[in-house]
Amino acid sequence: MSNIESKQQQVEATLRLAPVVPVVIIDDAKAAVPMARALVAGGIPAIEVTLRTPAALDAIRAIAAEVEGAVVGVGTVLTAKDLHAAQQAGARFAVSPGISPNLLAAADDSSLPLLPGVATASEAMSLLERGYRHLKFFPAVPAGGYKLLGAWASPLPQIRFCPTGGISLASAPEFLSLPNVLCVGGSWLTPANMLKAGDWAGIEALAREAKALR
Ligand code: 3PG
Repeated sequence: MSNIESKQQQVEATLRLAPVVPVVIIDDAKAAVPMARALVAGGIPAIEVTLRTPAALDAIRAIAAEVEGAVVGVGTVLTAKDLHAAQQAGARFAVSPGISPNLLAAADDSSLPLLPGVATASEAMSLLERGYRHLKFFPAVPAGGYKLLGAWASPLPQIRFCPTGGISLASAPEFLSLPNVLCVGGSWLTPANMLKAGDWAGIEALAREAKALR
């Protein structure tokens, strides 16, 4: 199933699971399963594990195999190789910070749904032409925040966004109140110190707070 519309429907279903998609930078793959269980227990099932550490693919593999209720995705996808490796590890969606011709061609050929990142209306229009109706707005706060994203709602009403980058529990409601936002992404649910300390109860509590945003 590599048809763009069916992949868009999968992305939409994933983005509607909860108000926040945690963006995870994981140093120790052994933390992946208890971390994901804590997020799921707190009501946050879709989890983006970024390809920024050597542990990322093992973490994705472990979550996909062992954590019931989790929908594990891969983030920081830059190349076709990243996309293929993550899909083999069990990722169910992919997120990229921006777009490149090679990555979009690889995504066309892959059954793994891609949520590509944009920071301008022109990039959003290019992706809309290719059938993408769900986009990441990145980096959300530095690029213009909820005011910029809200300004796109009227001219680009077909597109729904997951803004990510610089968003916190406190600022998430500004984004979530926009008509063109399905959820937000953020790293605040899985802080490095809690991952290192194995503070799964703390991560579950952060997940509960995030879930209560909507
Ligand atoms: C990232 O690039 O790490 C994600 O966009 C998350 O950003 P944040 O750390 O500002 O939430």
